[in-house]
Amino acid sequence: MDKKRKVIIDCDPGVDDALAINALLLKEDIEVLGISCVGGNRPLEYTYKNALRLVDFFKKDVRVYKGVAPLSIDPSIKSSFFHGKNGFGDVEIPYTTTNLSDINAIDFMEEMLLKYPGEIEILALGPLSNLAALILKNPQAFENVKAVYSMGGTFSRGNITPYCEFNYYFDLKALDIVMSALNENKVVFHMFPLDVTMKVYFDVNEFTFLRYEGGRWGNLVADIFEKHYLVKTYQAIGKTFCVLHDLVAAMYMLNPELFDEVRPVRISVDYEGAKRGKMSREFADTNIYVHEEVDGCKMKEAYLAINYDEKVIEKYRRLNKS
Ligand code: BDR
Ligand code: CA
Repeated sequence: MDKKRKVIIDCDPGVDDALAINALLLKEDIEVLGISCVGGNRPLEYTYKNALRLVDFFKKDVRVYKGVAPLSIDPSIKSSFFHGKNGFGDVEIPYTTTNLSDINAIDFMEEMLLKYPGEIEILALGPLSNLAALILKNPQAFENVKAVYSMGGTFSRGNITPYCEFNYYFDLKALDIVMSALNENKVVFHMFPLDVTMKVYFDVNEFTFLRYEGGRWGNLVADIFEKHYLVKTYQAIGKTFCVLHDLVAAMYMLNPELFDEVRPVRISVDYEGAKRGKMSREFADTNIYVHEEVDGCKMKEAYLAINYDEKVIEKYRRLNKS
């Protein structure tokens, strides 16, 4: 077998983080070196426990690392709205600390990047606090990253302010540090802003399908999404679906052919005033790629195929045709 791709998942699970983590944990050609956690959807004390729950659920020998506190934070931000108090829709799921490392996430990332220069891909599914802390601690180690895939940002409507997306707005200082580093080095950065993630969602029929056909995992997914995320989305905008933000970034890593090709851009961010956090972009000779178009139906099918056999996928296709 070819050498496995080495991946670190940096995340704040989070119900949509859970799908992304599931996808990578189950892919045989991917070696998840570790899961580093950050506060975001919920504070760190909840998110690392959810990562442990997932590792236990899939019986994987993957360590979970606690990251740093946000470098900056706007006290008005509240996120339990969509993810429940425990970050998993308040569904009670057991966990053990068997896979919890006592090494902190930044030391772990640094050690791996120095050991495997140019080989490690980072899937970043939460605020950029851990990446920024790594850059501050050892910029050379960050330059050893092969590529970052980051869910965050928006170039249209925001979801936390009219101009901003949650992950990037949550820690603007971290965003500033990461964006400045990208302007100075050659690290490849793939960004998945709301412009693309808002196009991919499971609706009530798909959750029902997961419940009936998706076994233990499908039931858990339906449980953690339906109690808060689905209800709150309905209350907020009258829609009965849940956007799968973080999964979109993970699926680009596995099926880039489902996304439109894009040219590199330079990103600018306003850090002051009423529109602080607002991003803009212009084509330039950089290593930053902003993805805005995906075949959402094929992407969801490709995701489900990681978990289920062809019989189940065929039923899923029929559901979407009816
Ligand atoms: C992002 O914020 C979190 O709520 C989600 O997990 C996703 O990473 C979407 O704005
Ligand atoms: Ca997330």
